[in-house]
Amino acid sequence: MTNLATAQKLAPSNLQLPVSAYFDVDLYQREIELLFKQGPGYVGHDLMVPEIGSYRTLAAENEGRILVRNEAGVELLSNVCRHRQALMLNGSGKTENIVCPLHRWTYDLNGDLLGAPHFEDKPCLNLGKSPLQNWQGLLFEGPRDVRPILPSWVLQMISSLMAICSITLRCTTATTTGKHLSRFTSRTTMSFHFILA
Ligand code: FES
Repeated sequence: MTNLATAQKLAPSNLQLPVSAYFDVDLYQREIELLFKQGPGYVGHDLMVPEIGSYRTLAAENEGRILVRNEAGVELLSNVCRHRQALMLNGSGKTENIVCPLHRWTYDLNGDLLGAPHFEDKPCLNLGKSPLQNWQGLLFEGPRDVRPILPSWVLQMISSLMAICSITLRCTTATTTGKHLSRFTSRTTMSFHFILA
């Protein structure tokens, strides 16, 4: 019988990464290239830009890109002006065109340059654009088609959540009234409907 109290008698586990893996810059770069850039990258929800002309900058990217709704749907555009690289929009709001605050270069809601004051010929410089996939309102970028993988992924997530909720409900039965429990259950169910709608 193994004496668990004696650490030296336990065989080293092969399942754990060596500590150096967590500080390996090359490994980190490979993870970025092979995992994160190839997988579906969640950008936001289309309700973040509810009307034509609505925009919202991506705070996680220091506002380098913006979600914009135009006639065709939601676009993910660069928020960096093609003239001298100024950031153009902040936060969220509504606009007819995207106008750079520095020298007033003006882009339409597709990111196409409409006008460049003081330039005789309009430069052919439109805003960079990243293709988006819309799945049930959730917006993703990246090379991978999200539609075949997301439904099973969401179902897995829901079953995990259900397991957690069931444990939580059981744990709270002793201390929570039935009224609180039913409110918790209906809220959870509503959230699931929202995800699947
Ligand atoms: S930097 Fe935007 S117009 Fe000059």
